[in-house]
Amino acid sequence: MSDTMPIEHSKWLTTGDFTEADEPFRLFSAWFEEAVTGEPSDPTAMALATVGVDGMPNVRMVLLKGVDHGGFVFYTNLDSQKGRELAGHPQAALSFHWKSLRRQVRIRGVVERVTDAEADAYFATRPRGAQIGAWASKQSAPLESRLAFEKAVAVETAKRGLGTVPRPPRWSGFRVVPSVMEFWHDRPFRLHDRVEFRRAAPDQSWAKTRLYP
Ligand SMILES: Cc1cc2nc3c(=O)[nH]c(=O)nc-3n(C[C@H](O)[C@H](O)[C@H](O)COP(=O)(O)O)c2cc1C
Repeated sequence: MSDTMPIEHSKWLTTGDFTEADEPFRLFSAWFEEAVTGEPSDPTAMALATVGVDGMPNVRMVLLKGVDHGGFVFYTNLDSQKGRELAGHPQAALSFHWKSLRRQVRIRGVVERVTDAEADAYFATRPRGAQIGAWASKQSAPLESRLAFEKAVAVETAKRGLGTVPRPPRWSGFRVVPSVMEFWHDRPFRLHDRVEFRRAAPDQSWAKTRLYP
């Protein structure tokens, strides 16, 4: 974006204006609601950063499937690269970038597994094709050819017939429980607004700090 491009500011001064918000989950909800209506492409998409056993960072996109005061939930294959990295090092960072709103939210925290009951309930809402895909895909393992995957999907489809597809035992969710949440909003001339919330532990209160852009 050019520094001189005119920007619509009115939205900041309403629900999402963080000068008035002292609770980051409430602020996240306000921004997320605006993203759902104002961001045409995947408003639930977020970058998920993890750390490998060798200390090497890794990052990929996932979809936010739930947010509560406990944290931010996404689903995946537990044997995938991210699943293995989180098992070895249960801390992660998330970044939402709502381009159309010119906003970013960054989150860092510890990661815990969702309960089997939560994962079952979410899996049951997925389209049948995605449920079958979860059985057929050994996510992140080497795949000999596209045809081999299509065969695996066909085999699973035949095996399931018309019956309910249960959740694969190695497919589940993670919740990132934040200790840091940062809200960033584009301002003209790169004089952006940044506010960081930090807490020592999930049962402690948040401290809010404005940061230089
Ligand atoms: C917009 C977008 C959303 C995605 N959502 C998910 C998701 O919710 N869960 C998931 O396992 N992979 C998702 N993926 C695929 C991942 O980015 C990644 O390719 C895959 O999970 C394997 O990552 P890993 O090898 O690091 O485990 C998504 C990709 C994109 C581009």
